[in-house]
Amino acid sequence: MSEIHPVTKDWAERAWVDDAEYKALYARSVSDPDGFWGETGKRLDWIKPFTKVKNTSFAPGNVSIKWYEDGTLNVAANCVDRHLAKRGDQTAIIFEADDPNEPSRHITYRELHTEVCRFANVLKAQGVKRGDRVTIYMPMIPEAGYAMLACARIGAVHSVVFGGFSPDSIAGRITDCTSEYVITADEGVRGGRKIPLKANIDAALEKCSGVKSVVVVKRTGADVPMKPGRDVWFDETAKGVSTDCPVEEMGAEDPLFILYTSGSTGKPKGVLHTTGGYLVYASYTHQMSFDYHDGDIYWCTADVGWVTGHSYVLYGPLANGATTLMFEGVPNWPSVSRCWEVVDKHKVNIFYTAPTAIRALMGAGDEPVKKTSRASLKLLATVGEPINPEAWEWYYRVVGDSRCPVIDTWWQTETGGHMITPLPGATPLKPGSATQPFFGVKPELVDSDGKVLEGAASGNLVITDSWPGQMRTVYGDHKRFEETYFSTYKGKYFTGDGCRRDEDGYYWITGRVDDVLNVSGHRLGTAEVESALVAHPKVSESAVVGYPHAMKGQGIYAYVTLMSGEVASEELRKELILWVRKEIGPIASPDVIQFAPGLPKTRSGKIMRRILRKIAEDDFTNLGDTSTLADPAVVTDLVDNRQNKK
Ligand code: WT7
Repeated sequence: MSEIHPVTKDWAERAWVDDAEYKALYARSVSDPDGFWGETGKRLDWIKPFTKVKNTSFAPGNVSIKWYEDGTLNVAANCVDRHLAKRGDQTAIIFEADDPNEPSRHITYRELHTEVCRFANVLKAQGVKRGDRVTIYMPMIPEAGYAMLACARIGAVHSVVFGGFSPDSIAGRITDCTSEYVITADEGVRGGRKIPLKANIDAALEKCSGVKSVVVVKRTGADVPMKPGRDVWFDETAKGVSTDCPVEEMGAEDPLFILYTSGSTGKPKGVLHTTGGYLVYASYTHQMSFDYHDGDIYWCTADVGWVTGHSYVLYGPLANGATTLMFEGVPNWPSVSRCWEVVDKHKVNIFYTAPTAIRALMGAGDEPVKKTSRASLKLLATVGEPINPEAWEWYYRVVGDSRCPVIDTWWQTETGGHMITPLPGATPLKPGSATQPFFGVKPELVDSDGKVLEGAASGNLVITDSWPGQMRTVYGDHKRFEETYFSTYKGKYFTGDGCRRDEDGYYWITGRVDDVLNVSGHRLGTAEVESALVAHPKVSESAVVGYPHAMKGQGIYAYVTLMSGEVASEELRKELILWVRKEIGPIASPDVIQFAPGLPKTRSGKIMRRILRKIAEDDFTNLGDTSTLADPAVVTDLVDNRQNKK
């Protein structure tokens, strides 16, 4: 076990809160949420100030979450316009391109204002109105941020789809929220490779109807087909519009965005976030967890296609008037020093990334890090999956030269912002632990019967009361929202995560306890991968489980039963992997496919995943009770095949 890293005197003094202040403020935040969040809500500029703060219920059959409900505001006004007077000439966004030789761009708040207004008017010219859903499928370029803020400015609801998702996945997301507008780019660039974004949109639109307009931003200048009457170049349309665009006055509970995320069953859910509470929470957590101060250069490596990109590349930092760095590339191209070169080039103070990236870079040794300065860094942070203590220590010692606290932030697409996280001036750090709840967050551990566990214990992590950044519903399916999150443990929000609380009250997330995979910090449902596999004409049945993977955290292990008469082969294995890539996207590529003559099932036909997980982990000694299986011989077969393969 690695040691505790105490808060240094220096940090306790300069941070927004020290330990005593954290404890006092936390106690107040949970005993008087109206008072606490009422004051915190004032950090935003409201058009009409709120008079009500919290109005929430987790009651079965009646889940309803409202914050600041009678206030009105605009997110773009808060992220852009309100900074013009004081920091119009300050850089809002630094853009660092994939190719290190391409000049970086510095966009000031004044320029950001012009660009967002221009983009908003382009959208209006396409017919986008308040409340309309706009699908954004973009590379990590400033225009992605302009597009999101432009939607927010005119009251449209964006649904950003990660550029790694396939045409099928895009089509599903467009259909689910009946989006009539798409914003994309000709191509994206990542790690020196081109990504055919517009071509993927074209293929997606073959599979769904209703899209009236596709706005295409130029990134590479590739010659892409444009469908007359549907597709327009952003550049050309932008020439004809004004750079003045009034903001739409939105209610605090009006939708801001939808973001699709995987669950344990069915197709991805549209997580809906609204305007007021979300922005209060994203901006406040950004300030406190990272101890953000004016003038800090801040870099979060997440793609805007994920919630981390929404809350901590764009909305949180910009609401705080920060300088946020957008990086188009990947950590290991053109070399594994890239991140630290970018840190030095732009004098980055706060760096936020995923454990999977840290593990990959750690694998390349210390030298590529040590040859850079990194003197500007003052705080390091992680998100997305549990960080193993070895990677934590490496990040702390080698990247941070043992000067920078490592802030391990646990949260979810559903939570909008950080939920369990150290605060750098307050919380002694334990490598591998997300440590303590953020203000207003009431975590609890329960056993599988819902019995509340006290003190040091391991169980399922639930949150017993609402916080402003919480998702409000599953888009178009409030019943699914209630069933997914509030029915397992009635009256409590169930996170889907397992967790241990130690004798100091520190929380250690142990990973998902449902059928959700976390592959390199990306979330995937086993059911999604299974349905992609069975869509292949030669596959009759499939069961997918996660298994420990040194780099990715979890790898994807697929058991596949073929149609009778089909023969397993190396070729078919490769074909199936490509098939899943095409159906969902590269992040869903199975790492292992085991052809299985049969799957272990109970007599009622339920697949026993517990056994499949054990076999995938190479743990054959402890398969548990197999007596309830319809055909116990199936297990022997699977184990033999697995062992023979080695
Ligand atoms: C799941 C949520 C929230 C942004 C990125 C992922 C896992 C997230 C941590 C962490 C341990 C973590 C959980 C969670 N997770 N952060 N610091 N330590 N696990 O968002 O795709 O909604 O996934 O990621 O399992 O439930 P997401």
